[in-house]
Amino acid sequence: MVTSGEHVPAQQCLAMGLVDELTEENDLKNGAITFAKKLVTENRPLVKVRDAQDVVEKDRGNDKLFADVRKSLARKTRGFLAPEYNIQCIEAAVNLPFDEGIKVEGKLFMELMMGNQSRAQQYLFFAQRQVNKIPDIERDTELKSVESVGVIGAGTMGGGISMNFANAGIPVTIVEQSQERLDKGLSIIRKNYENTAAKGRITVAQVEERMGLIDGKTSLEDLNTQDLIIEAVFENMDLKKEIFTKLDSICKDGAILASNTSALDVNEIASVTNRPEDVIGLHFFSPANIMKLLEIVRGDKTSKTVVATSMAVAKRIQKIAAVVGVCPGFVGNRILAQRQREANKLILEGALPWDIDDALFDFGFPMGPFAMSDLAGLDIGWNKETSNGESIRDLLCEAGRLGQKSGKGFYVYDENRNKSSDPEVEAIIKKFGEERQVRMRDINKEEILERCLYPMINEGFKILEEGMAIRASDIDIVWTNGYGWPAYEGGPMFYGNTIGFDKILFWLKKAELELGPEFKPSAYLEKVVAEEINIF
Ligand SMILES: NC(=O)c1ccc[n+]([C@@H]2O[C@H](COP(=O)([O-])OP(=O)(O)OC[C@H]3O[C@@H](n4cnc5c(N)ncnc54)[C@H](O)[C@@H]3O)[C@@H](O)[C@H]2O)c1
Repeated sequence: MVTSGEHVPAQQCLAMGLVDELTEENDLKNGAITFAKKLVTENRPLVKVRDAQDVVEKDRGNDKLFADVRKSLARKTRGFLAPEYNIQCIEAAVNLPFDEGIKVEGKLFMELMMGNQSRAQQYLFFAQRQVNKIPDIERDTELKSVESVGVIGAGTMGGGISMNFANAGIPVTIVEQSQERLDKGLSIIRKNYENTAAKGRITVAQVEERMGLIDGKTSLEDLNTQDLIIEAVFENMDLKKEIFTKLDSICKDGAILASNTSALDVNEIASVTNRPEDVIGLHFFSPANIMKLLEIVRGDKTSKTVVATSMAVAKRIQKIAAVVGVCPGFVGNRILAQRQREANKLILEGALPWDIDDALFDFGFPMGPFAMSDLAGLDIGWNKETSNGESIRDLLCEAGRLGQKSGKGFYVYDENRNKSSDPEVEAIIKKFGEERQVRMRDINKEEILERCLYPMINEGFKILEEGMAIRASDIDIVWTNGYGWPAYEGGPMFYGNTIGFDKILFWLKKAELELGPEFKPSAYLEKVVAEEINIF
């Protein structure tokens, strides 16, 4: 209970002996008095909680009990101090006399309360409420009704996106380019639902119910009645324009036309239609049925009604939505590109992929950039014909190291997909560096973190400067919900503040001189430091 913070129903507390009695009456005071009178009448012994030693006695010195709890929580609560401190409190309650136990509890509680982790999580709690507020959109903005959805493309994203709506009871029509691809997409959705049912999280009847809400078609003409259309075809501007041109003539008046593009210009997509006010970016994250984040990309001409309706739809499908502006990569991927660029450079300066991944994993990310690339597949966007050994990625792909799916990429994987570092990769990187006469050096963890994280914070300031995010805390919502930034570090902007924006500015200026113009500090960061502006 104390490690999860989940609510425990009153009846259950009674069964556990955590409370003495439940009162039916609305007036707690009267209930308590009645109970007290009953105790006196029945002449029951009055045992103070502190003296109820029988509850803990049997586990005194039982280290295994606590070791087991720690083990069961290790993965889920990695990096969070509070769950571990709670275990220490219970350990103290069990093993020490009451007064000493209370002292341990007091000390640990104070430490948590004064510490950065609690501040970070309180900040995120309020950030999550803030993110729903869009300054120029009034609360009573008229909403469109969304009772049916069309999704184009039944690939990785289209399938997951459709599941969100089926889960919320909203019928979805998926359109694919061929029956074969449609069947494949639908069968993956079914398999996903069946796996969830096998884990007991939904019933077998629910699998059928949700599949029953998903209709598959192979012609865009079938998208003439839906209220919201989400395009999730390949990331290709010409293709997206072709589709939106068709949607403009097919879809009913007033339908919202959305693109799930990861980085393309939503204004350009909207420009091929006669209704740019109804076009918006709805950027889901993979796996789309699981990831909480939704970037709502507001185009120059997107109407307030369409933005407000998209926010309401996000809520219905239980997403945390952040409104962002049109710029390459929007907020999330734009910041990610900074980390990726530095990680790629660092492996040519002497840090190995696993050094970088380990540093970021220890910081609290679920995985580092190279493990992530292996998971996604190194051949995304790679072309065998044009590959010319110009990057480590080229060399790995040319060697058949395409990532997890081929058993090796930056790492080598066993049959359970557990990764290990690989001397072969080290040799490829060394040779590549030597051929280009790059000076390799030892790079410690601290430097890896600075090089990967500080440019992300700088990019966050540029995003704010350009008005691509409404507020600093929205950036943190994006990164904690979509990219695994640990909640106890609050997100890149909160973390930057913890380090000190003046320190980050100093570091960036130095890096700009020594390493190049990509570290040039944002003008807004300079202003914030010079004028001591509070950005939160
Ligand atoms: N994969 C991710 O992690 C991710 C995350 C966020 C956004 N996105 C974006 O989502 C979009 C889709 O990505 P994906 O990973 O699902 O790709 P994918 O290749 O898995 O799926 C794309 C699907 O679109 C179908 N398609 C192509 N042209 C079509 C047409 N004319 N009519 C109907 N269907 C058509 C394809 O047959 C394919 O099944 C891209 O714009 C991508 O940038 C991807």
